[in-house]
Amino acid sequence: GLITKKTNTLGLIIPDITNPFFPQVVRAIEDTGNHRNYNIILCNTDNNQEKEKLYLEILQKKYVDGIILTSSTRTTKDHGILLEKLKLPLVLLDRAAASPFDFPSVYTCGYQGVMLGVNYLLKQGHRKIAYLSGPETSLVGKERLEGYMAALQNFGLTVNPQLIYYGDYKAETGEKGINELLEKDRNFTAVMAANDLMAVGAMRSIKNRQLKVPEDISVLGFDNIQISRLIDPALTTIHQPSYEMGKKATDMLIRLIEGKELEKRQVVLKPELLIRESVAERR
Ligand code: RIB
Repeated sequence: GLITKKTNTLGLIIPDITNPFFPQVVRAIEDTGNHRNYNIILCNTDNNQEKEKLYLEILQKKYVDGIILTSSTRTTKDHGILLEKLKLPLVLLDRAAASPFDFPSVYTCGYQGVMLGVNYLLKQGHRKIAYLSGPETSLVGKERLEGYMAALQNFGLTVNPQLIYYGDYKAETGEKGINELLEKDRNFTAVMAANDLMAVGAMRSIKNRQLKVPEDISVLGFDNIQISRLIDPALTTIHQPSYEMGKKATDMLIRLIEGKELEKRQVVLKPELLIRESVAERR
């Protein structure tokens, strides 16, 4: 067989370097890797599947010892087959593999996370709660959306599709989403966003309409990116353990590189509600 030489280099592929959530995870991967004598090569795909494929090839050619991947695709069958052909240890980060694939993965339960958020809004008296979703076609987007729907239904409310907007996790689609939602229905008193960047965008466009957060519309995010506590009002959000996520993924990858067994192939981390200032009780 081939004589493989170790390079002590890990490849890391993320989908959007402009989303501060990912640098937080990268920080943890770099710390953990460096501590174990590994260097990191970072690649950004801009959510482009072709770029992702190319980077997977390039990383293999550079002889990295293993890859941590936050995929930009919907982990379709083709994609799973592509990943199976990789001749390298692989850990999926922030997105699990769709069945029948069971690549090792670390992610935060989005269903539970959004449910925590919507339950909190319900507890504060809100009944018309809009939702800024990620793409419905992605596993993460779907899972979080299901959390929103389940929370409403468990409370005996029906889901109103008019109150759901599909964005792409960028601040701009949070802004645009609020504008479109307000045109359809002016009566919602709260909005939950599938990530913090969309929540920040939502706050901006609510303020641009001379409405107040949280007095007129409460806003709740998801991620707990560093700026979420610095903006005004400070964003109430669902904390994703991003550092732990990166650390765990790196530990798992290094175990695989060393030929050891994993204790668990799928690690699901728990989200937490972080109460700050952007949600008010409905009067
Ligand atoms: O990639 C988009 C989103 O998925 C991020 O904002 C974060 O929520 C991640 O889990």
